[in-house]
Amino acid sequence: MRTIIETTDDGSHTLYVPEMDEHYHSTHGAVQESMHVYIDAGLRHCNKAEINLLEIGFGTGLNAFLALLEAEKLQKKIHYTTLELYPVSVSNAASLNFSEIIDPTQRVSFEKLHTAAWEEWVQISPLFWLKKMKMDLRDLPVTPPEEKVDLIFYDAFAPEKQPEMWRQEIFNGLFSCSRDNAILTTYCAKGAVRRMLQSAGFTVERLPGPPGKREILRARKDVHDSVSTR
Ligand SMILES: C[S@@+](CC[C@H](N)C(=O)[O-])C[C@H]1O[C@@H](n2cnc3c(N)ncnc32)[C@H](O)[C@@H]1O
Repeated sequence: MRTIIETTDDGSHTLYVPEMDEHYHSTHGAVQESMHVYIDAGLRHCNKAEINLLEIGFGTGLNAFLALLEAEKLQKKIHYTTLELYPVSVSNAASLNFSEIIDPTQRVSFEKLHTAAWEEWVQISPLFWLKKMKMDLRDLPVTPPEEKVDLIFYDAFAPEKQPEMWRQEIFNGLFSCSRDNAILTTYCAKGAVRRMLQSAGFTVERLPGPPGKREILRARKDVHDSVSTR
């Protein structure tokens, strides 16, 4: 996928895909959006001591980088599985300014996310393990993660640009590979997406979005008491 680096309103980079006329992040602020949707509404909301996290769309590695830094702050172990069909090259990733903007002392950790081998677990920091899977999200129902997940970062390109990433079968598959009380967050608050998440079995909340976006979604796999009360 041919991409061009652009600078968003908070000074952090994003990638622009000319063929799709689509950005990897909000042009109002890439770091600001990722922090808001995935770290504040997702990771900080997950009360497990050890977290199995699944990301859809590794892309620039920004969400993974923020999660790695947060693991150290929260002192929680994270096993981070991420799916990506069109990896960004290591040399392109090296031009991104995320570590300069977020924490210049963590430049090496950001690089490690990109140089890590694919299809195997790699320890990036004391509390953060990464497994990058070069695969099509649409194959997830047939090749689910080896362990069920506690948290999902759903960060596909927008439904108008890539409708095949926002289909009922995909959300059903994500529900099946989630543990009880698992959380899914996404920047996309479209009614059709909310209804697909609900049909899959999730309970869905609309939350205020980051600058430039009215709402985002947080879905939870609630545990329902199956014992009937008489
Ligand atoms: C919105 S961007 C992800 C941004 C990323 N989370 C980040 O922090 O940079 C969407 C990502 O989905 C990937 N993608 C597109 N089609 C895919 C597919 N069928 N399966 C898996 N990943 C796909 C793209 O290559 C892109 O990296």
